[in-house]
Amino acid sequence: MSVLPRNDNSNPEAPLETREAAELAQAPLEALGKGAREFQLGNLTLNGRVFLAPMAGYTDTAFRRLARRYGAAMVVTEMVSSRALIEGSDKTNDLMEFTEPERPVGVQLFGGDPAIMGEAAARVAGEVNPDVIDINFGCPVGKILKCDAGAAVLKEPQRAGWIVEAMVKATKGKVPITVKTRAGYDAMDNAVFEVLEAVQSAGASALAVHARTRNQMFEGKANWEVIARLKERAKIPIIGNGDVKSAEDAYQLFRETNCDGIMIGRGSMGAPWIFEEINHYLETGKPLKAPSLKFRLGVALEQLRCSIEVKGERLGLLEMRKHLTHYLKGFEGARELRQKLLTSDDAGWVMKSLEEIYRSLPEGALVPVNV
Ligand SMILES: Cc1cc2nc3c(=O)[nH]c(=O)nc-3n(C[C@H](O)[C@H](O)[C@H](O)COP(=O)(O)O)c2cc1C
Repeated sequence: MSVLPRNDNSNPEAPLETREAAELAQAPLEALGKGAREFQLGNLTLNGRVFLAPMAGYTDTAFRRLARRYGAAMVVTEMVSSRALIEGSDKTNDLMEFTEPERPVGVQLFGGDPAIMGEAAARVAGEVNPDVIDINFGCPVGKILKCDAGAAVLKEPQRAGWIVEAMVKATKGKVPITVKTRAGYDAMDNAVFEVLEAVQSAGASALAVHARTRNQMFEGKANWEVIARLKERAKIPIIGNGDVKSAEDAYQLFRETNCDGIMIGRGSMGAPWIFEEINHYLETGKPLKAPSLKFRLGVALEQLRCSIEVKGERLGLLEMRKHLTHYLKGFEGARELRQKLLTSDDAGWVMKSLEEIYRSLPEGALVPVNV
């Protein structure tokens, strides 16, 4: 099977568009008056404005370490149930585990009961000691909404404030409490503006907004205008999120909304180096060259190794499969390689096969990414 790098579009696996952004005369962030790298989150100073969005099932420790290495200014754990945390659950404890190089790191909690969220926050602050505690007010999934959590608060924005208040009080204001929500419950409501008022009065340190409504789930286009309107009213930093897949998108999100920071979710899947591409572009106005296939597979291998080391061979490989789907795209032979590597239960063999391909590739084998 050939995994030769390619630069043409003759293969159906080839990228439909290139990630390369146009060179700009001035560094975008400087032009937008956001030249300083520092981003203030309560009492915490972050070295950048581009963050990894929390993604259940994806943003585990292996992936977070890579995102931080390539320049994400902060990473967040996969969401954790406040109720399960209080009742004590090994799975919950595993989800909150992080390593020192991941700092600054946030632990994300979900729940609908202010008292339980307060108690959970106090425990997290005392026992896990993250830099930030984030609240999930955006999850659109039925079983989360049923416990009045996630996007359910968009039906009752005042409760968002009560939850934040309880958490700030329980942590004695020592850990910044941040909120992540959606543009509304459905297209017609103004709930997100009420959520902003409620959480900022209650002491939240920032509000991140995925610019889709709950009813949109992940369909359609993110409506960045909501982010711009929130930014006009907000006294706390607004973090824009939704559909940023390239350095150019990142620039446009800052430019169109004047938001203070941005969060990248799916655009980082199989591409944790996207943070470096974005930071470089925002700070210089010049795009970075697309990474080589060898580099990309090297990063995939590193993540696979770490995943297996942390979770063991069976689970480590299983959970890495969805990441490999993203890494193994956009080059000749990618489909066959996916078929071969993603159907094997033998972690040692998958690792060895990837290593062989990696070694066979010349340095600097360039392929366009964003596929
Ligand atoms: C697989 C997956 C899991 C997600 N899990 C979470 C989560 O645990 N907490 C959360 O606040 N958002 C979660 N999200 C939403 C993302 O953080 C982000 O808001 C959304 O994907 C839009 O950003 P993007 O277009 O950059 O992906 C998840 C998204 C995806 C695709």
